[in-house]
Amino acid sequence: MRFFATVISAAALLSLAPAPTHALKILMNNDDGFGSGNLREFYRILKGMGHDVLIVAPATQQSAQGGRADYTTEANLTAPTQYNIVPAGAPSVGTDPHDANIWYYNGTPAACTFVALDYVLPRHYPAWNQAPDLLTSGPNFGTNLGPFVFTLSGTLGAAYAAVERSIPALAFSASNPSIAFANVTNGSNPATWAAGVSAQIVDLFAGRTAEGARVLPLGYGVNVNIPELNSSAMPEVVASRLTGNAVVDIAAYNETTGLFHYESLEPPAAGVNVCYNGDCGLPGETDVVASGKVSVSVFTVDYDAPSIGYTDMVFEKVFGERNGTGGGYGRRDVGVRRGAARGRRLMTGRDALREE
Ligand SMILES: *[C@@H]1O[C@H](CO)[C@@H](O)[C@H](O)[C@H]1NC(C)=O
Ligand SMILES: *[C@@H]1O[C@H](CO)[C@@H](O)[C@H](O)[C@H]1NC(C)=O
Ligand SMILES: *[C@@H]1O[C@H](CO)[C@@H](O)[C@H](O)[C@H]1NC(C)=O
Ligand SMILES: *[C@@H]1O[C@H](CO)[C@@H](O)[C@H](O)[C@H]1NC(C)=O
Ligand SMILES: *[C@@H]1O[C@H](CO)[C@@H](O)[C@H](O)[C@H]1NC(C)=O
Ligand SMILES: *[C@@H]1O[C@H](CO)[C@@H](O)[C@H](O)[C@H]1NC(C)=O
Repeated sequence: MRFFATVISAAALLSLAPAPTHALKILMNNDDGFGSGNLREFYRILKGMGHDVLIVAPATQQSAQGGRADYTTEANLTAPTQYNIVPAGAPSVGTDPHDANIWYYNGTPAACTFVALDYVLPRHYPAWNQAPDLLTSGPNFGTNLGPFVFTLSGTLGAAYAAVERSIPALAFSASNPSIAFANVTNGSNPATWAAGVSAQIVDLFAGRTAEGARVLPLGYGVNVNIPELNSSAMPEVVASRLTGNAVVDIAAYNETTGLFHYESLEPPAAGVNVCYNGDCGLPGETDVVASGKVSVSVFTVDYDAPSIGYTDMVFEKVFGERNGTGGGYGRRDVGVRRGAARGRRLMTGRDALREE
């Protein structure tokens, strides 16, 4: 049975999710900063479920950093951290004064992943062996949908940095607005609901991973996006793909101000929606979240093109036809799977429209 190709209803989710048989060592990160209400609620709930959790997250808001690993050149903070949790003058890496398992570092999300693995864990958590069972990133304030976020989003950057260090990672992005953890005063608010949905997804992975086994195969990560929530009810969870009506930016120029800002390209670009890998029959995560459901997309950090005819055509530009086959590098079917957004007009250039 291909469980991943089915829609998991809220009721089914509860019955399918086995009780966790063992606690996971979970390293938590994000890009909104270590004082984020979403992150702190996720931490509280995972801890309550019995997992061994630790936050190492940016000292300040670090959205849109992608996988950039930026390390501060100052040993001590030159300004207070987010929400004045830690004052200026304190070390650039340290802990929340109220919880010694909540660390901040004054750098980007990917830098926090590396500081966690190479400094915080070996020095302060030797039992972790520098190898958490799982890294979670987020839940972000705002969704991260489509392949474009893989170079843009700090939430994803923290996750793929972990995957590249052989640590399984789940990236979570929600649709609620930013809220400081100190402003979360009850259990009935969008930050707690987003954290609750994220924790239930973590528990699906925990419940189906044998003790000592990897949560995800080497090189794999998962991108989870959560729609706007109006209660603690678990929405439907749908297996999805990154591509399919995914957006990419344009540089929009304002003639009055002489300044650029980004806008989403409409109709969507063909380039960011091409489907070469994975199951092109799955719905795009962008559409899944728009329909009020939770999307679960699976990615790998193996960015090599798949072994198909198009790839042969590219190698042939450099090496010519290979091995006297007279027909190409390996000559497989060049008429490969097409763009994921079937039936949509896709932008193939700035001006040209192509019927897909
Ligand atoms: C950082 O602060 C500590 C005191 O917390 C001080 O001893 C140290 O000299 C400072 N380092 C720098 C580079 O300013
Ligand atoms: C937290 O609540 C205070 C008081 O209501 C408000 O001024 C502040 O903007 C809130 N901050 C965040 C980040 O939600
Ligand atoms: C819980 O807090 C939220 C703000 O975070 C507020 O909008 C809501 O009214 C509160 N609910 C209760 C039952 O106090
Ligand atoms: C350009 O910027 C001006 C000044 O901020 C603003 O009033 C105007 O609406 C903008 N024009 C467009 C087309 O966005
Ligand atoms: C929550 O309410 C908004 C606005 O009515 C709606 O768009 C959204 O789909 C709802 N979310 C869910 C999970 O039902
Ligand atoms: C050519 O084909 C032979 C037999 O399949 C293979 O052993 C050899 O590695 C190939 N050479 C190149 C350059 O692809």
